[in-house]
Amino acid sequence: MNDRLILGIESSCDETAVALVRGDRTIVAQRIASQDEAHRPFGGVVPELAARAHADRLTPMVAEVLAEAGVTLADVDAVAATAGPGLIGGVMVGLVTGKALAWGAGKPLLAINHLEGHALSPRLADAGLQFPYLLLLVSGGHCQLLGVEGVGRYRRLATTIDDAIGEAFDKTAKVLGLGFPGGPAVERAAKSGNAKRFALPRPLLGSAEPHFSFAGLKSAVLRAWAALPDKTAQDRDDLAAGFQAAATDCLIDRTRRAMTAFPQATALVVAGGVASNQHIRGALAGLAETQGLGFVAPPLWLCTDNAAMIAWAGAERLALGDAEREALGLGDGMDT
Ligand code: KG4
Ligand code: ZN
Repeated sequence: MNDRLILGIESSCDETAVALVRGDRTIVAQRIASQDEAHRPFGGVVPELAARAHADRLTPMVAEVLAEAGVTLADVDAVAATAGPGLIGGVMVGLVTGKALAWGAGKPLLAINHLEGHALSPRLADAGLQFPYLLLLVSGGHCQLLGVEGVGRYRRLATTIDDAIGEAFDKTAKVLGLGFPGGPAVERAAKSGNAKRFALPRPLLGSAEPHFSFAGLKSAVLRAWAALPDKTAQDRDDLAAGFQAAATDCLIDRTRRAMTAFPQATALVVAGGVASNQHIRGALAGLAETQGLGFVAPPLWLCTDNAAMIAWAGAERLALGDAEREALGLGDGMDT
């Protein structure tokens, strides 16, 4: 069972990715092609450009990955492809490519919820991570706290009532003229900034309700920037640092609250693109330590979109018994 080989395909946003992963956690071969150059002139992801780029790149990348691993589709046990949520054009390109490959080779197709890919990715990196765990899922499209009870068993404890956190990072980068992609640029600028200079709001901090909100913080960054007469590089770095500190405080406060709502968690786990932010990782590690919980964060490349996490989610589903697998919907308990 552990030597089952899964071909994973990811195309839900602006990364075209293909990976071959074994059930024993070996990443046999993988490719991740970023489309940053294509989208940069527009300051954000253009869905039609993304879908066309996936259509151009995907099949050659599958061939490259199989060749690097020295296998053919006949050696693969299943094809796993992201089936949503995401930009619909890209999702369709990846899913239909996966279907065609699976059908042609007579292999099963596993349709994977992209969020389930992120949610299970820490178990690909850390064989010791057991269910149940408390997951903070922070990406460009989502900001959620999930009680992960098992494969396909997710309890949504909190979500954002307005913007996703990655979206807030990206908008902040745009306002400050830091370019695209925004999250890493804000983190870089924040390193030379004074986080205390601007008094920025921390929406819902201390609130009895479980959810996140970032719209008010985003608008406050916009107003503070507009009010600056000179807009120097130091102004920019200070505001980036202030934003990152405020957003982190919100994540920590909401996560602390969720720990009491999901006390059975054996570890605090973070996943999704924003989980590659070192400031946020450090703050979460500190929170877990004060609560006496283990902390697991995947390596940086596994936080942002990739196909190894999709192949791994496929491997986790394949490892379930037939009856258990058939009882599961596509990412039950998750957004679709
Ligand atoms: O998971 P992901 O690659 O794609 C989605 O499923 O959305 O997440 C992308 C998001 C973007 O908003 C990006 O700006 C953000 O993750 N991001 C970061 C960092 N690296 C990527 N945000 C903050 N700090 C980073 N270092
Ligand atoms: Zn993602």
